Amino acid sequence: MATDTGTEPGTEPPPPAPPARHGVLSAGRAAIPARHLRTDRWWLQPLLTALGLTAFVVYSTWRAFANAHYYAEPYVSPFYSPCLGSNCVDMPLGARWPIFGDWWGLSPALLVLIFPLGFRLTCYYYRKAYYRGFWASPPACAVAEPHAGYSGETRFPLILQNIHRYFFYFAIPVAAILSYDVVLAFRDGRGAWGHMGLGTLVLLVNIALIWAYTFSCHSCRHIVGGRLKHFSRHPVRYRAWTWVGRLNRHHMGLAWASLISVAVSDFYVYLVASGAFDDPRFF
Ligand code: FES
Repeated sequence: MATDTGTEPGTEPPPPAPPARHGVLSAGRAAIPARHLRTDRWWLQPLLTALGLTAFVVYSTWRAFANAHYYAEPYVSPFYSPCLGSNCVDMPLGARWPIFGDWWGLSPALLVLIFPLGFRLTCYYYRKAYYRGFWASPPACAVAEPHAGYSGETRFPLILQNIHRYFFYFAIPVAAILSYDVVLAFRDGRGAWGHMGLGTLVLLVNIALIWAYTFSCHSCRHIVGGRLKHFSRHPVRYRAWTWVGRLNRHHMGLAWASLISVAVSDFYVYLVASGAFDDPRFF
């Protein structure tokens, strides 16, 4: 007679099905009970990454919504250039195209930051950095991630990361406009050329790092030298590809250096515009 468990008397019930296993626990992988075999401080890098990116997000959010102290002639903050709203402060000769009107009184920085932030958010390096720092996916090399499943960037919303190359196209004119701002930083308050202050130097270093970061982009490298079967038939593209390749090797360092420099540049302009600091003038 069958029992109420559905098994014949004297027989054992079948064992429960094992839970689905993924990653290092998946079938076919060596049965190592340890979660990972690393003995170094592998958690330090993702922790520092998360702290650094959080600090930048907090700072840039504050400054983007502040809508004040972003112009101290002849310096304009990179967070607010070009100005696409009509509610910007008067910036003689600065890049002003008020195509969005007063933008319901919102900060004009919100209009322009979409492009550099989209460029960085979809950057191959930053993706790795914030996947590790915030999602532990994976936390580090050879450390199993805690998530049960992994779909990579094959589904919404992460599939949108593939628009990175289009943000690259937008990053070029934005960097060109910031370069124009640096040229204007060589004028004094009366519009005469030949000025150079500490702010000029800060903006100059910033734009150099922004260009280096932009040209070190993986998409840029592919656009310049990808899809070629014979470099010998394309010597100009080959030469450009080798230059971009040299920069590309330092993409991570340039990503951080340019992120810090853009925040420092904005903060410098904020200090001068708010009257907290006098811009030292070299000549
Ligand atoms: Fe980092 Fe393109 S891969 S900016």
